[in-house]
Amino acid sequence: LIRPVLKTQLLCCSGFQPLLTSGLAAMLRKVFLAGGHVTPFVGKGSPNFQKGLKGLKEYFAESIQGAFRETGAKPEAIDRIYVGNFAGELFNSQGHLGAAVAAAHPALLHRPSMRVEAACASGGLACAEAVRAICAGDDIVLAVGVEVQTEADSRTGGTYLARAADFKRQSGLDDFTFPALFARRAKAYLEKYPEVKMADLATVGVKAYSNGNKNPLAHMHSVKRPLEKAVAGPEFLKNEELKPFVRATHCSQVSDGGAAAIFVSEEGLRKCGLSKHQAVEIVATDYGAGDLWSDPEDLAVMDTTRAVVSRMLASAGVKPSDLDVAEVHDCFAIAEILMYEAIGLAPPGKGTELVKSGATSLEGKIPVNTGGGLISFGHPVGATGVKQVLEIYRQMKGLCGDYQMKSQPNLGLCVNMGGDDKTCSAMLLRNT
Ligand code: CAA
Repeated sequence: LIRPVLKTQLLCCSGFQPLLTSGLAAMLRKVFLAGGHVTPFVGKGSPNFQKGLKGLKEYFAESIQGAFRETGAKPEAIDRIYVGNFAGELFNSQGHLGAAVAAAHPALLHRPSMRVEAACASGGLACAEAVRAICAGDDIVLAVGVEVQTEADSRTGGTYLARAADFKRQSGLDDFTFPALFARRAKAYLEKYPEVKMADLATVGVKAYSNGNKNPLAHMHSVKRPLEKAVAGPEFLKNEELKPFVRATHCSQVSDGGAAAIFVSEEGLRKCGLSKHQAVEIVATDYGAGDLWSDPEDLAVMDTTRAVVSRMLASAGVKPSDLDVAEVHDCFAIAEILMYEAIGLAPPGKGTELVKSGATSLEGKIPVNTGGGLISFGHPVGATGVKQVLEIYRQMKGLCGDYQMKSQPNLGLCVNMGGDDKTCSAMLLRNT
Protein backbone atom coordinates (compact mmCIF):
# COMPACT_ATOMS: atom_id res chain seq x y z
CA LEU A 1 0.00 0.00 0.00
CA ILE A 2 1.06 3.57 -0.77
CA ARG A 3 4.26 2.38 -2.39
CA PRO A 4 5.56 3.99 -5.51
CA VAL A 5 4.90 1.48 -8.25
CA LEU A 6 8.45 2.00 -9.44
CA LYS A 7 11.31 2.57 -7.07
CA THR A 8 12.26 5.57 -9.13
CA GLN A 9 9.00 7.27 -8.31
CA LEU A 10 10.38 9.17 -5.34
CA LEU A 11 12.56 11.97 -6.49
CA CYS A 12 14.61 14.20 -4.35
CA CYS A 13 16.49 16.85 -6.20
CA SER A 14 18.79 19.66 -5.36
CA GLY A 15 21.52 17.87 -3.47
CA PHE A 16 19.22 16.35 -0.85
CA GLN A 17 19.81 12.63 -0.48
CA PRO A 18 17.06 10.53 -2.07
CA LEU A 19 15.37 8.03 0.24
CA LEU A 20 15.45 5.29 -2.36
CA THR A 21 18.37 4.74 -4.62
CA SER A 22 17.64 3.75 -8.15
CA GLY A 23 18.83 4.08 -11.70
CA LEU A 24 17.05 7.39 -11.92
CA ALA A 25 18.47 8.71 -8.66
CA ALA A 26 21.93 8.25 -10.15
CA MET A 27 20.88 10.57 -13.01
CA LEU A 28 19.33 13.24 -10.81
CA ARG A 29 19.62 16.77 -11.98
CA LYS A 30 18.40 20.04 -10.58
CA VAL A 31 14.82 20.76 -11.59
CA PHE A 32 13.15 24.16 -11.61
CA LEU A 33 9.66 25.50 -12.12
CA ALA A 34 10.05 28.37 -14.57
CA GLY A 35 6.46 29.58 -14.10
CA GLY A 36 3.30 29.20 -16.09
CA HIS A 37 -0.24 30.44 -16.50
CA VAL A 38 -3.57 29.90 -14.80
CA THR A 39 -6.78 30.91 -16.57
CA PRO A 40 -9.60 32.39 -14.51
CA PHE A 41 -11.51 29.52 -12.88
CA VAL A 42 -15.21 30.04 -13.56
CA GLY A 43 -18.66 28.55 -13.12
CA LYS A 44 -21.93 29.27 -11.34
CA GLY A 45 -21.30 32.23 -9.05
CA SER A 46 -18.68 33.98 -11.19
CA PRO A 47 -19.83 37.22 -12.79
CA ASN A 48 -20.36 37.14 -16.57
CA PHE A 49 -19.95 33.36 -16.66
CA GLN A 50 -21.53 31.93 -19.78
CA LYS A 51 -21.99 28.19 -19.95
CA GLY A 52 -20.60 26.73 -23.18
CA LEU A 53 -18.60 29.83 -24.13
CA LYS A 54 -15.26 28.02 -23.76
CA GLY A 55 -14.49 24.32 -23.97
CA LEU A 56 -11.48 22.06 -23.53
CA LYS A 57 -9.78 23.30 -26.71
CA GLU A 58 -9.96 26.94 -25.62
CA TYR A 59 -8.69 26.22 -22.09
CA PHE A 60 -5.76 24.20 -23.43
CA ALA A 61 -4.84 27.03 -25.80
CA GLU A 62 -5.25 29.81 -23.24
CA SER A 63 -3.22 28.14 -20.51
CA ILE A 64 -0.42 26.83 -22.78
CA GLN A 65 -0.01 30.07 -24.74
CA GLY A 66 -0.02 31.99 -21.45
CA ALA A 67 2.72 29.73 -20.07
CA PHE A 68 4.93 30.37 -23.11
CA ARG A 69 4.31 34.10 -22.84
CA GLU A 70 5.02 34.28 -19.12
CA THR A 71 8.14 32.09 -19.01
CA GLY A 72 9.83 32.87 -22.30
CA ALA A 73 9.91 29.14 -23.12
CA LYS A 74 9.85 28.59 -26.86
CA PRO A 75 7.25 26.08 -28.05
CA GLU A 76 9.90 24.54 -30.36
CA ALA A 77 12.05 23.76 -27.31
CA ILE A 78 9.41 21.71 -25.45
CA ASP A 79 10.73 18.18 -25.03
CA ARG A 80 7.61 16.55 -23.63
CA ILE A 81 4.06 17.28 -22.48
CA TYR A 82 1.93 15.77 -19.72
CA VAL A 83 -1.79 16.48 -19.66
CA GLY A 84 -3.82 16.24 -16.44
CA ASN A 85 -7.54 15.67 -16.97
CA PHE A 86 -9.90 13.45 -15.06
CA ALA A 87 -13.14 12.99 -16.91
CA GLY A 88 -13.20 14.57 -20.36
CA GLU A 89 -15.02 11.49 -21.69
CA LEU A 90 -17.90 12.10 -19.27
CA PHE A 91 -18.13 15.89 -18.97
CA ASN A 92 -17.30 16.66 -22.61
CA SER A 93 -17.54 13.35 -24.52
CA GLN A 94 -13.86 13.82 -25.27
CA GLY A 95 -10.94 11.56 -24.49
CA HIS A 96 -7.43 11.18 -25.94
CA LEU A 97 -6.32 14.48 -24.50
CA GLY A 98 -2.59 13.95 -25.00
CA ALA A 99 -3.42 14.97 -28.54
CA ALA A 100 -5.33 18.06 -27.42
CA VAL A 101 -2.33 20.36 -27.09
CA ALA A 102 -1.01 20.82 -30.63
CA ALA A 103 -3.81 23.26 -31.48
CA ALA A 104 -2.29 25.64 -28.90
CA HIS A 105 0.82 26.08 -31.03
CA PRO A 106 1.90 24.41 -34.31
CA ALA A 107 5.37 23.68 -32.88
CA LEU A 108 3.77 21.23 -30.42
CA LEU A 109 2.63 18.99 -33.27
CA HIS A 110 4.19 15.51 -33.06
CA ARG A 111 5.86 16.21 -29.68
CA PRO A 112 5.79 13.40 -27.10
CA SER A 113 2.55 14.07 -25.24
CA MET A 114 0.37 11.95 -22.98
CA ARG A 115 -2.49 12.28 -20.54
CA VAL A 116 -2.14 11.12 -16.95
CA GLU A 117 -5.20 10.41 -14.83
CA ALA A 118 -5.64 10.03 -11.12
CA ALA A 119 -9.01 11.74 -10.60
CA CYS A 120 -8.51 15.11 -8.91
CA ALA A 121 -4.78 14.39 -8.55
CA SER A 122 -4.33 14.23 -12.33
CA GLY A 123 -2.69 17.69 -12.45
CA GLY A 124 -0.33 16.88 -9.58
CA LEU A 125 0.75 13.71 -11.33
CA ALA A 126 1.30 15.59 -14.61
CA CYS A 127 3.70 17.88 -12.69
CA ALA A 128 5.42 14.96 -10.94
CA GLU A 129 5.94 13.20 -14.26
CA ALA A 130 7.33 16.42 -15.76
CA VAL A 131 9.92 16.51 -12.95
CA ARG A 132 10.79 12.87 -13.56
CA ALA A 133 11.25 13.60 -17.26
CA ILE A 134 13.72 16.39 -16.46
CA CYS A 135 15.62 14.06 -14.12
CA ALA A 136 15.73 11.55 -16.94
CA GLY A 137 17.33 14.00 -19.37
CA ASP A 138 14.71 16.35 -20.83
CA ASP A 139 15.34 20.09 -20.52
CA ILE A 140 11.93 21.73 -20.89
CA VAL A 141 8.68 19.92 -20.07
CA LEU A 142 5.14 21.27 -20.09
CA ALA A 143 2.55 20.07 -17.57
CA VAL A 144 -0.96 21.23 -18.37
CA GLY A 145 -4.22 20.50 -16.56
CA VAL A 146 -7.69 21.28 -17.91
CA GLU A 147 -11.23 20.38 -16.89
CA VAL A 148 -14.54 21.73 -18.16
CA GLN A 149 -17.27 20.60 -15.78
CA THR A 150 -20.11 23.02 -16.34
CA GLU A 151 -21.34 21.31 -19.50
CA ALA A 152 -23.23 19.04 -17.04
CA ASP A 153 -25.50 20.19 -14.20
CA SER A 154 -23.93 19.73 -10.77
CA ARG A 155 -26.01 16.65 -9.84
CA THR A 156 -25.09 14.81 -13.07
CA GLY A 157 -21.51 16.02 -12.63
CA GLY A 158 -21.59 14.54 -9.13
CA THR A 159 -22.30 11.12 -10.60
CA TYR A 160 -19.40 11.57 -13.05
CA LEU A 161 -17.04 12.50 -10.22
CA ALA A 162 -18.23 9.37 -8.39
CA ARG A 163 -16.06 7.37 -10.83
CA ALA A 164 -13.12 8.49 -8.67
CA ALA A 165 -14.58 6.43 -5.81
CA ASP A 166 -15.27 2.68 -5.72
CA PHE A 167 -18.28 3.25 -7.97
CA LYS A 168 -20.15 0.00 -7.42
CA ARG A 169 -19.79 0.17 -3.65
CA GLN A 170 -20.02 3.91 -3.00
CA SER A 171 -22.01 5.72 -5.70
CA GLY A 172 -25.28 4.70 -4.02
CA LEU A 173 -24.44 6.87 -1.01
CA ASP A 174 -25.84 9.93 -2.80
CA ASP A 175 -25.89 11.53 -6.28
CA PHE A 176 -23.33 13.85 -4.73
CA THR A 177 -21.05 10.93 -3.91
CA PHE A 178 -17.97 12.95 -2.99
CA PRO A 179 -19.76 15.43 -0.73
CA ALA A 180 -21.30 12.33 0.91
CA LEU A 181 -17.93 10.57 1.29
CA PHE A 182 -16.45 13.63 2.98
CA ALA A 183 -19.58 14.09 5.10
CA ARG A 184 -18.83 10.54 6.27
CA ARG A 185 -15.33 11.65 7.22
CA ALA A 186 -16.67 14.76 8.98
CA LYS A 187 -19.11 12.58 10.94
CA ALA A 188 -16.31 10.24 12.00
CA TYR A 189 -14.11 13.20 12.96
CA LEU A 190 -16.82 14.89 15.04
CA GLU A 191 -17.58 11.59 16.79
CA LYS A 192 -13.90 11.04 17.55
CA TYR A 193 -13.36 14.62 18.75
CA PRO A 194 -16.72 15.68 20.27
CA GLU A 195 -15.35 19.09 21.23
CA VAL A 196 -15.20 19.94 17.48
CA LYS A 197 -18.46 21.26 15.95
CA MET A 198 -19.70 21.82 12.39
CA ALA A 199 -19.31 25.58 12.97
CA ASP A 200 -15.58 24.98 13.51
CA LEU A 201 -15.33 23.33 10.08
CA ALA A 202 -17.06 26.35 8.55
CA THR A 203 -14.06 28.52 9.45
CA VAL A 204 -12.10 26.80 6.65
CA GLY A 205 -14.66 28.17 4.17
CA VAL A 206 -14.47 31.64 5.69
CA LYS A 207 -10.68 31.70 5.21
CA ALA A 208 -11.02 30.33 1.66
CA TYR A 209 -13.59 32.95 0.59
CA SER A 210 -11.67 35.77 2.26
CA ASN A 211 -8.55 34.82 0.26
CA GLY A 212 -10.55 34.27 -2.95
CA ASN A 213 -12.09 37.74 -2.58
CA LYS A 214 -8.56 39.11 -3.09
CA ASN A 215 -7.85 36.90 -6.13
CA PRO A 216 -9.36 38.02 -9.45
CA LEU A 217 -8.79 34.55 -10.98
CA ALA A 218 -10.96 32.88 -8.32
CA HIS A 219 -14.31 31.35 -9.29
CA MET A 220 -15.89 32.82 -6.13
CA HIS A 221 -13.99 36.14 -6.26
CA SER A 222 -17.19 38.17 -5.90
CA VAL A 223 -18.96 36.03 -3.33
CA LYS A 224 -18.69 37.09 0.31
CA ARG A 225 -18.93 34.40 2.96
CA PRO A 226 -18.71 35.67 6.54
CA LEU A 227 -18.89 33.12 9.35
CA GLU A 228 -22.65 33.37 9.92
CA LYS A 229 -23.30 32.60 6.22
CA ALA A 230 -20.74 29.78 6.14
CA VAL A 231 -22.25 28.18 9.23
CA ALA A 232 -25.80 28.44 7.88
CA GLY A 233 -25.03 27.18 4.34
CA PRO A 234 -27.65 24.79 2.93
CA GLU A 235 -27.53 21.06 3.52
CA PHE A 236 -28.09 19.39 0.16
CA LEU A 237 -27.50 15.64 0.45
CA LYS A 238 -30.46 13.25 0.19
CA ASN A 239 -28.68 10.72 2.39
CA GLU A 240 -30.35 11.49 5.73
CA GLU A 241 -27.55 10.04 7.86
CA LEU A 242 -24.82 12.10 6.18
CA LYS A 243 -26.82 15.21 5.30
CA PRO A 244 -26.01 17.17 8.51
CA PHE A 245 -22.26 16.74 8.00
CA VAL A 246 -21.68 18.78 4.84
CA ARG A 247 -23.07 22.13 3.75
CA ALA A 248 -22.81 23.78 0.35
CA THR A 249 -20.54 26.39 1.96
CA HIS A 250 -18.03 23.64 2.88
CA CYS A 251 -17.69 22.43 -0.71
CA SER A 252 -15.27 23.05 -3.55
CA GLN A 253 -16.76 24.46 -6.72
CA VAL A 254 -17.84 22.87 -9.98
CA SER A 255 -15.48 24.89 -12.17
CA ASP A 256 -13.99 25.21 -15.63
CA GLY A 257 -10.37 26.22 -16.07
CA GLY A 258 -6.85 25.41 -17.14
CA ALA A 259 -3.31 25.76 -15.81
CA ALA A 260 0.02 25.16 -17.53
CA ALA A 261 3.45 24.96 -15.88
CA ILE A 262 6.92 24.79 -17.42
CA PHE A 263 9.52 22.61 -15.66
CA VAL A 264 13.15 22.97 -16.70
CA SER A 265 16.68 21.74 -16.07
CA GLU A 266 19.56 24.21 -15.63
CA GLU A 267 20.10 23.92 -19.37
CA GLY A 268 16.36 24.53 -19.84
CA LEU A 269 16.61 27.72 -17.80
CA ARG A 270 19.36 28.90 -20.11
CA LYS A 271 17.29 28.02 -23.18
CA CYS A 272 14.41 30.10 -21.79
CA GLY A 273 16.75 33.00 -21.07
CA LEU A 274 15.96 32.81 -17.35
CA SER A 275 18.21 33.05 -14.32
CA LYS A 276 17.75 30.68 -11.34
CA HIS A 277 16.33 33.61 -9.40
CA GLN A 278 13.41 33.86 -11.79
CA ALA A 279 12.49 30.23 -11.10
CA VAL A 280 11.81 28.09 -8.04
CA GLU A 281 13.61 24.85 -7.36
CA ILE A 282 11.86 21.51 -6.94
CA VAL A 283 13.33 20.03 -3.77
CA ALA A 284 11.38 16.76 -3.90
CA THR A 285 8.28 15.15 -5.31
CA ASP A 286 6.49 11.92 -4.55
CA TYR A 287 3.17 10.23 -5.03
CA GLY A 288 1.40 7.13 -3.87
CA ALA A 289 -1.91 5.32 -3.98
CA GLY A 290 -4.14 3.75 -1.36
CA ASP A 291 -6.63 0.93 -1.97
CA LEU A 292 -9.61 2.05 -4.04
CA TRP A 293 -11.66 -1.00 -3.01
CA SER A 294 -11.62 -0.61 0.76
CA ASP A 295 -12.16 1.99 3.49
CA PRO A 296 -9.33 3.12 5.74
CA GLU A 297 -9.32 1.88 9.33
CA ASP A 298 -10.00 5.37 10.65
CA LEU A 299 -12.02 7.82 8.54
CA ALA A 300 -10.71 10.66 10.70
CA VAL A 301 -7.21 10.14 9.28
CA MET A 302 -5.95 10.60 5.70
CA ASP A 303 -3.49 7.76 5.69
CA THR A 304 -2.38 7.98 2.04
CA THR A 305 -1.59 11.68 2.34
CA ARG A 306 0.16 11.10 5.65
CA ALA A 307 2.33 8.31 4.21
CA VAL A 308 3.29 10.15 1.01
CA VAL A 309 3.97 13.56 2.55
CA SER A 310 5.93 12.21 5.51
CA ARG A 311 7.99 10.02 3.17
CA MET A 312 8.77 12.98 0.94
CA LEU A 313 9.57 15.40 3.78
CA ALA A 314 11.80 12.81 5.45
CA SER A 315 13.64 12.24 2.19
CA ALA A 316 14.38 15.96 1.99
CA GLY A 317 15.23 16.35 5.68
CA VAL A 318 12.40 18.87 6.07
CA LYS A 319 10.02 19.17 9.05
CA PRO A 320 6.45 20.48 8.72
CA SER A 321 7.51 23.42 10.92
CA ASP A 322 10.09 24.42 8.26
CA LEU A 323 7.33 25.21 5.74
CA ASP A 324 6.43 28.83 4.99
CA VAL A 325 3.39 28.22 2.78
CA ALA A 326 1.23 25.30 1.63
CA GLU A 327 -1.38 24.45 -0.96
CA VAL A 328 -3.55 21.57 0.22
CA HIS A 329 -6.51 19.81 -1.37
CA ASP A 330 -9.51 21.42 0.35
CA CYS A 331 -12.19 19.76 -1.79
CA PHE A 332 -14.29 20.05 1.38
CA ALA A 333 -13.64 21.89 4.64
CA ILE A 334 -13.05 18.62 6.50
CA ALA A 335 -10.43 17.67 3.89
CA GLU A 336 -8.33 20.74 4.70
CA ILE A 337 -8.51 19.91 8.42
CA LEU A 338 -7.51 16.28 7.80
CA MET A 339 -4.69 17.47 5.54
CA TYR A 340 -3.28 19.73 8.28
CA GLU A 341 -3.13 16.68 10.52
CA ALA A 342 -1.80 14.30 7.85
CA ILE A 343 0.99 16.71 6.89
CA GLY A 344 1.89 17.41 10.52
CA LEU A 345 0.85 21.07 10.67
CA ALA A 346 -1.52 20.19 13.54
CA PRO A 347 -1.70 17.23 15.93
CA PRO A 348 -4.64 14.80 15.57
CA GLY A 349 -7.90 16.48 16.57
CA LYS A 350 -6.38 19.97 16.57
CA GLY A 351 -6.83 20.95 12.90
CA THR A 352 -9.79 23.24 13.55
CA GLU A 353 -7.85 24.96 16.35
CA LEU A 354 -5.09 25.69 13.85
CA VAL A 355 -7.42 27.36 11.35
CA LYS A 356 -9.34 29.20 14.08
CA SER A 357 -6.04 30.54 15.50
CA GLY A 358 -5.43 32.33 12.19
CA ALA A 359 -2.11 30.49 11.68
CA THR A 360 -3.15 29.35 8.19
CA SER A 361 -4.63 32.69 7.10
CA LEU A 362 -2.70 35.04 4.81
CA GLU A 363 -1.17 36.86 7.77
CA GLY A 364 -0.50 33.68 9.76
CA LYS A 365 2.62 31.65 10.45
CA ILE A 366 1.90 29.08 7.73
CA PRO A 367 -0.59 30.43 5.20
CA VAL A 368 -2.55 27.65 3.47
CA ASN A 369 -4.40 28.00 0.16
CA THR A 370 -3.58 31.68 -0.18
CA GLY A 371 -5.53 32.21 -3.42
CA GLY A 372 -8.74 30.69 -2.03
CA GLY A 373 -8.12 26.95 -2.43
CA LEU A 374 -10.57 24.63 -4.12
CA ILE A 375 -13.45 26.08 -2.09
CA SER A 376 -13.10 29.61 -3.47
CA PHE A 377 -10.48 29.65 -6.24
CA GLY A 378 -12.44 26.73 -7.68
CA HIS A 379 -11.78 23.13 -8.65
CA PRO A 380 -11.63 22.25 -12.36
CA VAL A 381 -10.36 18.91 -11.20
CA GLY A 382 -7.57 18.09 -13.69
CA ALA A 383 -6.24 21.67 -13.50
CA THR A 384 -6.08 21.90 -9.72
CA GLY A 385 -2.72 20.18 -9.12
CA VAL A 386 -1.01 22.33 -11.76
CA LYS A 387 -2.57 25.48 -10.35
CA GLN A 388 -1.34 24.54 -6.85
CA VAL A 389 2.35 24.47 -7.84
CA LEU A 390 1.93 27.75 -9.72
CA GLU A 391 0.36 29.33 -6.64
CA ILE A 392 3.48 28.47 -4.62
CA TYR A 393 5.65 29.83 -7.45
CA ARG A 394 3.61 33.06 -7.56
CA GLN A 395 3.86 33.57 -3.79
CA MET A 396 7.61 32.96 -3.91
CA LYS A 397 8.08 35.48 -6.71
CA GLY A 398 5.77 38.14 -5.27
CA LEU A 399 3.19 37.87 -8.05
CA CYS A 400 0.02 37.44 -5.98
CA GLY A 401 -1.18 41.04 -5.90
CA ASP A 402 -3.77 41.62 -3.17
CA TYR A 403 -3.22 38.18 -1.66
CA GLN A 404 0.56 38.36 -1.60
CA MET A 405 2.07 37.19 1.71
CA LYS A 406 3.96 39.91 3.57
CA SER A 407 7.30 38.14 3.28
CA GLN A 408 7.94 35.99 0.23
CA PRO A 409 8.13 32.35 1.33
CA ASN A 410 11.25 30.23 1.07
CA LEU A 411 9.87 26.69 1.36
CA GLY A 412 6.43 25.59 0.11
CA LEU A 413 4.46 22.35 -0.05
CA CYS A 414 1.72 21.25 -2.47
CA VAL A 415 -0.59 18.35 -1.77
CA ASN A 416 -3.02 17.25 -4.48
CA MET A 417 -5.49 14.43 -3.76
CA GLY A 418 -7.33 11.98 -5.99
CA GLY A 419 -10.58 10.40 -4.79
CA ASP A 420 -11.20 10.04 -1.08
CA ASP A 421 -7.48 10.12 -0.17
CA LYS A 422 -6.80 7.31 -2.66
CA THR A 423 -4.01 9.08 -4.58
CA CYS A 424 -1.72 11.71 -3.14
CA SER A 425 0.74 13.74 -5.18
CA ALA A 426 3.09 16.00 -3.25
CA MET A 427 5.80 18.48 -4.20
CA LEU A 428 8.24 20.53 -2.14
CA LEU A 429 9.46 23.80 -3.69
CA ARG A 430 12.16 26.26 -2.64
CA ASN A 431 12.61 29.87 -3.62
CA THR A 432 15.91 30.62 -5.29
N1 CAA B 1 -31.17 24.75 -0.20
C1 CAA B 1 -31.40 23.44 -0.30
N2 CAA B 1 -30.85 22.68 -1.25
C2 CAA B 1 -30.04 23.27 -2.13
C3 CAA B 1 -29.75 24.64 -2.08
C4 CAA B 1 -30.36 25.39 -1.06
N3 CAA B 1 -30.14 26.71 -0.93
N4 CAA B 1 -28.88 24.92 -3.07
C5 CAA B 1 -28.64 23.79 -3.71
N5 CAA B 1 -29.35 22.79 -3.14
C6 CAA B 1 -29.38 21.39 -3.52
C7 CAA B 1 -30.56 21.07 -4.34
O1 CAA B 1 -31.08 19.88 -3.78
C8 CAA B 1 -30.06 20.79 -5.73
O2 CAA B 1 -30.72 19.64 -6.12
P1 CAA B 1 -31.44 19.48 -7.56
O3 CAA B 1 -30.35 18.90 -8.44
O4 CAA B 1 -32.52 18.52 -7.30
O5 CAA B 1 -31.88 20.85 -8.02
C9 CAA B 1 -28.57 20.47 -5.51
O6 CAA B 1 -28.21 21.07 -4.26
C10 CAA B 1 -27.66 21.10 -6.54
O7 CAA B 1 -28.05 22.39 -6.72
P2 CAA B 1 -27.28 23.38 -7.65
O8 CAA B 1 -26.90 22.67 -8.90
O9 CAA B 1 -28.01 24.66 -7.74
O10 CAA B 1 -26.04 23.56 -6.70
P3 CAA B 1 -24.82 24.44 -6.89
O11 CAA B 1 -24.48 24.63 -8.31
O12 CAA B 1 -24.96 25.66 -6.04
O13 CAA B 1 -23.73 23.46 -6.27
C11 CAA B 1 -22.79 21.98 -4.75
C12 CAA B 1 -23.54 23.31 -4.93
C13 CAA B 1 -23.76 20.84 -4.94
C14 CAA B 1 -22.23 21.98 -3.35
C15 CAA B 1 -21.65 21.89 -5.81
O14 CAA B 1 -20.85 23.03 -5.73
C16 CAA B 1 -20.81 20.64 -5.64
O15 CAA B 1 -21.23 19.56 -6.01
N6 CAA B 1 -19.56 20.78 -5.11
C17 CAA B 1 -18.66 19.68 -4.91
C18 CAA B 1 -17.94 19.31 -6.19
C19 CAA B 1 -17.13 18.05 -6.01
O16 CAA B 1 -17.60 17.10 -5.41
N7 CAA B 1 -15.89 18.05 -6.53
C20 CAA B 1 -14.99 16.95 -6.34
C21 CAA B 1 -14.39 17.02 -4.98
S1 CAA B 1 -13.65 15.49 -4.50
C22 CAA B 1 -12.03 15.58 -5.02
O17 CAA B 1 -11.48 16.64 -5.18
C23 CAA B 1 -11.31 14.28 -5.27
C24 CAA B 1 -11.65 13.52 -6.50
O18 CAA B 1 -10.78 12.82 -7.03
C25 CAA B 1 -13.01 13.53 -7.06
